Amino acid sequence: MSARVLPDQALRRRFRRCLLGWYDVHGRDLPWRNTSDPYHILVSEMMLQQTQVDRVIPKYHEWLDRYPSLDALAAAHGKEVTRTWRPLGYNIRPRRLHAIARESVARYGSRLPSDEDTLLSFKGIGAYTAGAIRSFAFGQRAAIVDTNVARILFRIFVNRGDAKAHAMRKHMWTLSQALLPRKRVFDFNQALMDLGATVCIARKPKCSACPMAGMCRSYPAAGAV
Ligand code: ADE
Repeated sequence: MSARVLPDQALRRRFRRCLLGWYDVHGRDLPWRNTSDPYHILVSEMMLQQTQVDRVIPKYHEWLDRYPSLDALAAAHGKEVTRTWRPLGYNIRPRRLHAIARESVARYGSRLPSDEDTLLSFKGIGAYTAGAIRSFAFGQRAAIVDTNVARILFRIFVNRGDAKAHAMRKHMWTLSQALLPRKRVFDFNQALMDLGATVCIARKPKCSACPMAGMCRSYPAAGAV
């Protein structure tokens, strides 16, 4: 199989089965995995854009206590919103989240829109976050690719050429879409996040614990433990 050819149906099925089976046992129990409330998913994904899971968890709870809905967030003062966010870093994310809440209230009936183009029209929502919101909050068969997912898919299905090239990034999106199951899209995408965070990590990947070792073009990856 050439590097850019998509895996056949049998291999896609095997990938899904291995990943979901692994996730059922090893998946992390994170607070935004017990909800499909679009606002909660939005908050978690905005926080996780640049902050580690451990630091996000307490702030996620605090945020939802203080601003339990899009309406509550939209009604808050900008300065207070920025202050609430501050331990997660001085940056633009709270202002963007606040603007998304205000626009959702003003234009979309106090609901976060579910279609890709509208989500992408918000500043702060890029292709990854739009896919995360669509799959986690709305159950759509939407792919996600971030640095971790790209690394997993490149290692397993490609392992040659330039991982950072534009065409390769595009190929990762095509792969991620092709691999998505019809059911359990939520779990499948969350499982990709977990595999990238705990097993298929950038340095010293834990290939011996990887459910995909038997189908991986990089196995055993350089520096694997
Ligand atoms: N990073 C970004 N989104 C995430 C999620 N849903 N779970 C864990 N880590 C993430």
